[in-house]
Amino acid sequence: MFEQSTLKDKVVFIAGGTSGINLGIAKGMAAVGAKIAVLGRNSDKALAAAQEITESVKSINGHSAIALTADVRDPEQVENALQSCVAQLGKIDCLISGAAGNFPAPALGISPKGFKTVVDIDLLGTYNVFHLGFNHINKGASLIAITAPQAVTVMPFQVHVCAAKAGINMMIKCLAVEWGASGITVNGISPGPINGTEGAERLAPTPEAKSAMSAKIASKRFGDTKDIADAAIYLASDMGRYINGTIMTVDGGTELGDASEDCLKIPLR
Ligand code: COA
Ligand code: NAP
Repeated sequence: MFEQSTLKDKVVFIAGGTSGINLGIAKGMAAVGAKIAVLGRNSDKALAAAQEITESVKSINGHSAIALTADVRDPEQVENALQSCVAQLGKIDCLISGAAGNFPAPALGISPKGFKTVVDIDLLGTYNVFHLGFNHINKGASLIAITAPQAVTVMPFQVHVCAAKAGINMMIKCLAVEWGASGITVNGISPGPINGTEGAERLAPTPEAKSAMSAKIASKRFGDTKDIADAAIYLASDMGRYINGTIMTVDGGTELGDASEDCLKIPLR
């Protein structure tokens, strides 16, 4: 259990923080004292998310979250959003890159433009947020990219996501090495499928698909947004100060591969 002051007055910028897992991180961090900026493409959605975060902490610390609008594929828009965050909340202590796009499709059904779209949002978008964000962070800042099991475990119909997230994993390590001397840490969080999120709905759109996917996970279930928020708070807090260049896997064992009953029933000699 974190304290209400674990991230007291820390400024957190969350690209893709207007829904799902990243909104869960935003609310979790706000509840332990952080000042939050959430960013997405849709301004109404961003405003609603900022209002939801503000409401959720009204009785705790009275911080108002701010809404920013940008497409992470566009460096100019990202730079404007970063400047707006600093002008309203101050320099950034925790910079999170979590915007992503996904549609399950066989490789032959993904056009070059479809492949580029996902790589541009996930991989180039993370580069834009971190590269441009470097000039807007405080010494000791924590940079966190939201990656996925697809970075290290093959998933059919996910060639674009596997390629993009694998790139993010290496980017995290490269930046940790280059920027460590500036007192910055760069890490990733790799969530498994998370209940009630767009990403999980796209990969398991029916109850049957969800059961089948859960059966293959070592822990036999999907995770919750709080699981990921807790990991992010840990990394961004003083407790995570010596963690650098790593991918924190919070996936119930998803990344380990097939743990289904059938798979474990292979007769042994
Ligand atoms: N199968 C194959 N190709 C698809 C597809 C699908 N289901 N959905 C989109 N594409 C292709 C499009 O056909 C297009 O390529 P084309 O013009 O050669 O046909 C390309 O992807 C770009 O699509 P577009 O809709 O113009 O991109 P966008 O930038 O507006 O949206 C997406 C990006 C496609 C990733 C969209 O799903 C999105 O905005 N997702 C954000 C939410 C999300 O994915 N959440 C889960 C996070 S894990
Ligand atoms: P989600 O609810 O669809 O959230 C995506 C966020 O990114 C939204 O805020 C969205 O807002 C924003 N976004 C999308 N494209 C953008 C762009 N081009 N520029 C700026 N913002 C953009 O997603 P989620 O399912 O919670 O997933 C969140 C993260 O966790 C992703 O990185 C995903 O890969 C990762 N992940 C998810 C799961 C899962 O089970 N859900 C599992 C493993 C990893 P707008 O649409 O308004 O732009």
